[in-house]
Amino acid sequence: MEKGAFKGKHFLALEDFTPEELRYLLDLALKLKAEKKQRVDQRRNIGQNMLMLFEMESTRTRCSFETSAQDLGMGTTYLSNSHFGTKETIKDSMRVFSALYDVIAYRGMDHAQLQEMARESTIPIINGYTMHEHPTQMLADFMTLDEVYGREGYKGKTFVYIGRGGACCAFSYAVACAMFGMNFKFITSYMTLDEAVSRLSPEEQKLFYQEVPKGTPVAGWSGAMPDDQKKFIRELYAKYNPQCTFTETEDVNEVKGADVVSTENWGFFTNKAITWLPGIVKYKKYQVNRELMAKTENPNAIFLHMLPATHNADHSAARKLVDSVDDPELKKFLEKGFEVTDEVFEDNAAYIFREAENRQHTIKAVTYAVLGDDVEG
Ligand code: CP
Repeated sequence: MEKGAFKGKHFLALEDFTPEELRYLLDLALKLKAEKKQRVDQRRNIGQNMLMLFEMESTRTRCSFETSAQDLGMGTTYLSNSHFGTKETIKDSMRVFSALYDVIAYRGMDHAQLQEMARESTIPIINGYTMHEHPTQMLADFMTLDEVYGREGYKGKTFVYIGRGGACCAFSYAVACAMFGMNFKFITSYMTLDEAVSRLSPEEQKLFYQEVPKGTPVAGWSGAMPDDQKKFIRELYAKYNPQCTFTETEDVNEVKGADVVSTENWGFFTNKAITWLPGIVKYKKYQVNRELMAKTENPNAIFLHMLPATHNADHSAARKLVDSVDDPELKKFLEKGFEVTDEVFEDNAAYIFREAENRQHTIKAVTYAVLGDDVEG
């Protein structure tokens, strides 16, 4: 690929690009990381500015965009409480942002809104997470796999994503695996909300329904990937990596053969502890613990987590929940971790925090590329 090929393009979803284009971004990220380690001056974009428009909380994505922009010599604005989307049309806001900035980083729920923003914007927009996909996270994961296995050493290996469905993460990993050439298994639970709630104590059921009245549609509860997403992923595999496999199952034993295992946190509904309990009932048997890692029958299998993780009860939200649980067995279980145990998390901390660091290098690569990476430092 030619330098400057991404100039002016939006980076909204992996599937908007070819595997070769995504590979170019990973190689650029590896180069920028090596430069940074050698303390090379990376200020190639002096005089340019980034708007970071975040409608949801973030630690890694926000910090990675901000430090990347600063490394590239740019100015930044973090905007989380503006007129955007409420007292001003998207079209008007985008006209203002396009006049004042050179690039926009966006985090929010609604991918259709991001697409509308992109249509109205004359400057590139980078998706920092929507409910459709988390593409910059996927680049960080595959850059990490490049470093673990050697460049493209992940090809033909098996990625197992286990546990909570319903958000964008399983879909994002499936798209990334289809494009980069890994087998993908999604292991999840199809348990309904009513069934999960029925397994709580009568008092817990009462408290839960006070917070989430019966019949309330619950976004993200379903474990299964929607059929249209599965069809889309199969088409991507057929187009780019027909030799690889894609499966979805409820069977935990299907983790056998995994090279990489990943999951995400069990946060559902609200910050009130009681609203987490049905999700814990649903996904308890999918917790990534040492027994589950042994089921891979692969002593070299690694665990990745995009973070934030609940791998013990040491943060305030987890502590509050664990303290509110009456069942001593469940309390003991949760003290060891929620979606992943402390043991597995710490066994793999070197990979997990490398993945977190690589958010910066990959986001820097995307930012530099969409601004035209034909400018050398
Ligand atoms: N993984 C990730 O996107 O982290 P943040 O929500 O902290 O940005």
